[in-house]
This record gives sequence, C-alpha cells and structure tokens, in this order.
Amino acid sequence: MQRYDLVIIGSGPGGYVAAIRAAQLGLSVALVERYPSLGGTCLNVGCIPSKTLLDSSELYYEAQKHFSEHGIFIENLSLSWEKMLARKSQVVKQTVGGVEYLMKKNKIEVFHGHGRFISANEIAVEGGPTLYGKYIIIATGSKPASLPHISIDKKRIITSTEALSLNELPRRLAIIGGGVIGVEMASIFGRLGTEITIIEYLDRLLPGMDADAGEEARRILTADYGAKILLGHSAQSAEVREERVYLTAAPRAGGSTINIETDYVLVAVGRRPYTDGLELEKASLAVDERGRIPVNSQLQTAVPHIYAIGDVIQGPMLAHKASEDGIFVAEQLAGRKPHLDYLQVPSVVYIWPEIAGVGYTEEMLRQEGRPYRTGKFPYRASGRARAAHETRGFVKVIADAKTDLLLGMHIVGPRAADLIAIGVAGLAYGASAEDIFRLPLAHPTFSEALKEAALAASEGGPLHL
Ligand code: FAD
Ligand code: NAI
Repeated sequence: MQRYDLVIIGSGPGGYVAAIRAAQLGLSVALVERYPSLGGTCLNVGCIPSKTLLDSSELYYEAQKHFSEHGIFIENLSLSWEKMLARKSQVVKQTVGGVEYLMKKNKIEVFHGHGRFISANEIAVEGGPTLYGKYIIIATGSKPASLPHISIDKKRIITSTEALSLNELPRRLAIIGGGVIGVEMASIFGRLGTEITIIEYLDRLLPGMDADAGEEARRILTADYGAKILLGHSAQSAEVREERVYLTAAPRAGGSTINIETDYVLVAVGRRPYTDGLELEKASLAVDERGRIPVNSQLQTAVPHIYAIGDVIQGPMLAHKASEDGIFVAEQLAGRKPHLDYLQVPSVVYIWPEIAGVGYTEEMLRQEGRPYRTGKFPYRASGRARAAHETRGFVKVIADAKTDLLLGMHIVGPRAADLIAIGVAGLAYGASAEDIFRLPLAHPTFSEALKEAALAASEGGPLHL
C-alpha cells in the first residue's frame, strides 16, 4: 500500500487545483482519475471546449454580419465545422497537457483508474495500487442530468458532451433547458446557421441570474440568431425516426401540446453530482436526497478526515468554485485559516455580449426582505461602446438601502466576464457603491459603466445620462 498525506479522487478543476495547492504547502499528494485525460469536465467536455467553439463561432458571425459596418468586406466567406472542431481538440489537448506538466512539477503522483473506497482511509485504484490517505478529498464532479421520459441515445438525443463533438453541423437543433448550457449552445450553433428551438420550463432564461440579464439573453438569441424560445414549456417526449427527432412540449400552465420536428435534441436540464461506483458506504458516507455529498462549513464530510469539493457538493456548479473549494481544503490541511464565501463567486454566461453577475440578485433580496437600491447604466451611453459598435447591455449595481454596502453587480455587455472582477473585489473587501464610483477607471473603457451604475445606486443618478 502506498501512503500519502492526501489522496484526491477526481482531477477536475476541484481536484487538480487542490493537489497543486496541497503540494505547494508541503503535503505528499496522490491524484486518482478514471479517464486517461486529466482536467475533468471543465477541460475536456465543458468550459474549455465550449469557450473555444463560442470564440470561433463568434468570429464567423461577426465576419458575416458586422464587419461591413466597419468598412470591411469579405467575399466568399465560408465555414469549416471540421476545422473548428479540430482547433477545439487542439486547445483541449494543450490545456490538459498543461495540467500534466503541473502535476509533475509539483511532484503529485497521478494514478489513472476508477477509485473506490475500501475503508475510510484506503482507496483502491482499478488496475493500480491501493492508496492510503491520512486525508482524502472527494472531487468526483458531476454528469449531465436526464429526464425520466426522454432517453439520451447520444446520437440524436444528446448532452453537451456530444454537442461539442458532433460530426456534422446540425440544420435544426432543439434544446431542452434554457439554463447556462442551453443558452451557450444556442449561441454556438445559432451563429453557424443552425435553426434553434429552446424549450424552457420556467418563464425566463437563465433562472439563476439577474432577471434583466435573462431577458437580454432571450433578446440576443431571438434577434441575432432567430432562435425560437418556448418559455413556460416542458419537454414531454422525444422519438427518433429516420435521423429525425420528433419532440413534444406542453405549456406548464396547461393548453395544447406543441410538436417539434428537429435533427438533434440537446438535453441541458442541469447536472447531477457523480458518485457512481465510489462505494461511499465503505467509508460510512452517504449522499443526500439530491445525490450530493453533505459537508459542513469546512467542507468536511461526516467523516472528519474526508473532505468533498466542487460539483459533488452544494453550491454553484462552476469550475472556479470547485477550485476555490480545493484551495480552501488544501490550506486547512496545511494549517492555514482560509476563508470561503459562495456569494462572492461570479457566474458568467459566455454569449455575446457576455453576461456576468456576482452577489445578490434583486430576487434574492426581495425574498430576504432586505431594502436595497439599484443603479443601472446602459452601454448605449458609453463612448467606448459606441466606438466598438457594442451598445447593447447594461451594468446594474445593487447596494444596501441604508448603508450603501455593495450587495451585487450584474453586467450584460462586452467583456462582462472580465469586468465582473471589480464586483468580486468590491464584495470581498466590503466596498460601498460609492467606493466603486470613486475608482479612477481609464477612459474610454467599458469599465466606466461600472462607476456610472455605482453612482446611480449610491446617489440616484449617473454622470453621463
Ligand atoms: P469535474 O470537472 O466533473 O471533475 C471530476 C473528475 O473526477 C472527472 O475527471 C471524473 O472522471 C473523475 N472521477 C469521478 N469519479 C471518479 C472515480 N471514482 N475515480 C476516479 N476519478 C473519478 N464552469 C465554469 O466555471 N465556467 C464555464 O465556462 C463552464 N462551462 C461549462 C460548459 C459545459 C458544457 C459544462 C458541461 C460545464 C461547464 N462548467 C463551467 C462547469 C464546470 O465544468 C464544472 O463546474 C467543473 O468541472 C466542476 O469541477 P469538479 O472538479 O468538481 O468536477
Ligand atoms: P441549469 O441549471 O443552468 O439550467 C437547466 C434549465 O433546464 C433550467 O432553466 C430549468 O428550468 C430547465 N429545465 C429543467 N427541466 C426541464 C424540462 N423538463 N423542460 C424544459 N426545461 C427544463 O443547467 P445546465 O444549463 O444544464 O448547466 C449545468 C451546470 O453547468 C450549471 O450549474 C452551470 O453552472 C454549469 N455551466 C456553467 C457554464 C458557465 O459558467 N459559463 C457553462 C455551462 C455550464
């Protein structure tokens, strides 16, 4: 048996980042991964491949629709889906290679094979040795959720994993679920000419995000890519016949069923924590009613030396959240006193313009009954946005009505994914809306809209509107 201070099961952004941080702080670390490729969902079939295809499809769309507004004319513009996929695979390969390098650099021992508990300290690796860990981190992530009445055949009725590697560009694609995956995939394929239909159970897209942002997403998908969006509908059945899928959707409120004929159906109704074959019971552990591993505020499971992080526990299913969890646990094990607050974890939807949010939404504050003020600034009033021909979207700052404490920031606009870092810093350091207004931000930049919205939240109106 090989002994380590720390054995980590799962090499996604939770597991591999925890491994690096623990090794940096002096622990001996083993990392177990059931697939040949390191990096988990995010690097292999999630964040990295989806953002690669989002970037490629955006360039094609811009060249086709907007270059001429800048006086640039391209004749015979054409598209190779095959080449886009090849570039995506290359980017994934390089990124995974980077993680392999980091494992070696930090002297982390990697074992490929399915890991399962034999006891509370021992992990058997399929086809490999048994590992003893003084501490263990479960970082086994998640898998796509399915619907009881629709069976995913991975050919015509697919998940995001297959969508990112389809061997043809679909002429028609129906997407069940208007959450983050649904909206990002609709953008990729919509930009490349696929006819998109989204069936979303709730009355808005992106239910976890600011309501105005969800409405902007709906406008972008319908206005730019001609997507048909059925809000308040749930998918009832899907049948594959002769390379077509026949889908039915029923209004939630009752009424007649809609029949949709399409070429592919993408099921994007959330993800479920993955603990299959982990044999948790051998370590006296069990999952909760949603399949998650219960943890306390230190991310310890019911067995104190076993921790769990990332998608397999509570909290947003995001790569950077998984990594923060991993750092938090590794630092505790090394005797540090780290801090973790999921309210400071930003969410980003990488469509164009981008959507990003951090902290409270108005809905959350209304539910809590906490008085707040909002300040909003539209990009159409920004000089930088006009220069870039990017005048859609807004910045919304939410502040406590009495103290002016920054409570949330929500952005729809160019580079929102990066700009939200200011909101994260503001929340982390307890800034007021006035503090954000007083930041001397460069002109002309998209970031100036943050100052303006902050002033509007703090004092009732911006400068340039
Ligand atoms: P995972 O990344 O799922 O990794 C878990 C690993 O554990 C896997 O490699 C798995 O093979 C391994 N494993 C499981 N069980 C065992 C076992 N018994 N033995 C050995 N190994 C095991 N998040 C963002 O923040 N930004 C994005 O842009 C983004 N885009 C996404 C796009 C898509 C299409 C999808 C599907 C997800 C996206 N996400 C994004 C979410 C992100 O991928 C996850 O939140 C993140 O990967 C979770 O990290 P994790 O380490 O908890 O788990
Ligand atoms: P999600 O939870 O964001 O959205 C699922 C949607 O499906 C919800 O809007 C829900 O109302 C709807 N739905 C559920 N059942 C339905 C039914 N029967 N008919 C119609 N609609 C139905 O989950 P999604 O999009 O699958 O993403 C999974 C996870 O991956 C998310 O937690 C997300 O955070 C993460 N992710 C993050 C990305 C990012 O950070 N940019 C990108 C992609 C995924």
